Amino acid sequence: MQVPKKRRRLAITGVAVAALAATGLTFASANQALAEEGCKVDYKVVSSWGSGFQANVTITAQEPINGWELKWNFPSGTTVSSAWNVSYTQSGTSFTGKDVGWNGSIASGQSKEVFGFIGSGSSATPAQFTINGDVCNGTTQPPTSEPPTSDDPTGNPGGGDKVDNPYTGAQVYVNPIWSANAAAEPGGDAIADEPTAVWLDRTSAIYGNGSPTTGSMGLEDHLDEALAQGADVIQVVIYNLPGRDCAALASNGELAADEIDEYKNDYIDPIVDIMGQAKYADLKIVNVIEIDSLPNLVTNVAPRATATANCNTMKANGNYQDGISYATAELGSLPNTYNYLDAGHHGWIGWTNNDPQYDNFHSSADMFGTLIGMNGMTADDVQGFITNTANYSVLEEPYWNVDQVVGGKAINQNPDVKWVDWNAYNGEIDFATAFRQELVSNGFNSNIGMLIDTSRNGWGGDYRPTGASTSTNPVTFVDESRIDQRYNKGNWCNQAGAGLGERPQASPEPGIDAYVWIKPPGESDGASEEIPNDEGKGFDEMCDPDYGGNIRNNNNPSGARDDMPLSGHWSSEQFQELLENAYPPVN
Ligand code: BGC
Repeated sequence: MQVPKKRRRLAITGVAVAALAATGLTFASANQALAEEGCKVDYKVVSSWGSGFQANVTITAQEPINGWELKWNFPSGTTVSSAWNVSYTQSGTSFTGKDVGWNGSIASGQSKEVFGFIGSGSSATPAQFTINGDVCNGTTQPPTSEPPTSDDPTGNPGGGDKVDNPYTGAQVYVNPIWSANAAAEPGGDAIADEPTAVWLDRTSAIYGNGSPTTGSMGLEDHLDEALAQGADVIQVVIYNLPGRDCAALASNGELAADEIDEYKNDYIDPIVDIMGQAKYADLKIVNVIEIDSLPNLVTNVAPRATATANCNTMKANGNYQDGISYATAELGSLPNTYNYLDAGHHGWIGWTNNDPQYDNFHSSADMFGTLIGMNGMTADDVQGFITNTANYSVLEEPYWNVDQVVGGKAINQNPDVKWVDWNAYNGEIDFATAFRQELVSNGFNSNIGMLIDTSRNGWGGDYRPTGASTSTNPVTFVDESRIDQRYNKGNWCNQAGAGLGERPQASPEPGIDAYVWIKPPGESDGASEEIPNDEGKGFDEMCDPDYGGNIRNNNNPSGARDDMPLSGHWSSEQFQELLENAYPPVN
């Protein structure tokens, strides 16, 4: 297993980023040190602004290099404030950068852009470079100017500017492992070329661990395959927080509550190193960051009756915020990544209430806002948020509204209607739209976009109503009118009767960047009964069809399918039911 060395990153200040955005990139120069001893170093300043600059470093080998240690002296006062794809130290003016494993080998005659960094101070090219002790040259050529290209005003070959919505006009990567599973099912061909996400659900998944969840493909294999497909966008799920999934057991992960260093060093840093390789510069990498985590620290902690011991622990140790802000900052520092943070779904976060005891909506947005500034994370590191990941909540209820008056009272003011229970929202579109605004009020950029996971929220099939009920009894009215067939919106595991939802598509609604299939349909949410395993996965009663529920689903039956394998493992039966109950139907 490749274990890259620790990567360091300090914050690029908001001022520097703003200055960069305001001026565009002022110039690009390619300064070369000519080789005398079998190597050549290009120190290319791709942008500079008042206080700093970005440089990319390319090594050309005349003889094969297997592992490099590159040294130079900066002009005095110049320091590296962040860097990628390099393990570096700086002492005074002296800089030493080492390869991070995958970028260590350079064949004879090959030129490889090996790393990049943000510096503060002078962007003048150092006078001399040494690689593994050999001087590459003592002289530098005069700077040559590179005019900006028309599609990239920066002149930066990889592009540094992120687009507002990465899904616009994009071909999105089809995961061949999921696609093969889908195609092998009767009728599965019809959807087998839909894009689904690649889940990095534990450290070994980065490298390919042969499990049914990830198959033999590691992250780099998927990214290479995305290039081979000619894809513009690939979707990756970052999902390995310490003390993961604190209110449930089926997806508890490999890292204990206090293993935050392992999360940063062994999980996030290698992902950043792989995604940052120059060959992926033109691939837009969407990172869906940490499902079902932060909202748990609002809704499932003391003094609420819904509290769990694990969520109390994670709230007290702060490792969710530490891990998520670190991941977002580190991934956000790459020019080709698009971060979307997980924001639950309307049936979880949709309660707006003036009393914080009962409010999930404002308190969750507020919690997200507190991440800004932690671990150098800025608002610019966040392209948006995603709702309904791996859940079953509908986009909208077509036949009724939550504030509709039935039997003399608004439905969402009527304590008898447990399905709504004062929730202000009736579906993901309204919720995501409103939550987007609330997040902007809490410090996120005004152009953030939302994603909604529609992989399993279709609710078609025989039980789907075709119009509103005529009952004047509010409970009967809601039960007969709603398309979501669950017992309760708190039910999340392998819901019987669910169908595929809207096919993935860009910009379906204002403020919504895309409908996406993040949870790959056919992959289980959790085992129906205890199954011993080495994936760190526990047994959650919410996945047992005979379980009568708990306070988090208002003591309703779990609604889960029977005979289901471990979370992430394939279920033909579930896949076939999703296909059959798809809405819109699959032809
Ligand atoms: C599981 C992961 C799996 C993912 C996608 C999660 O619930 O814990 O192992 O990769 O679902 O199916």
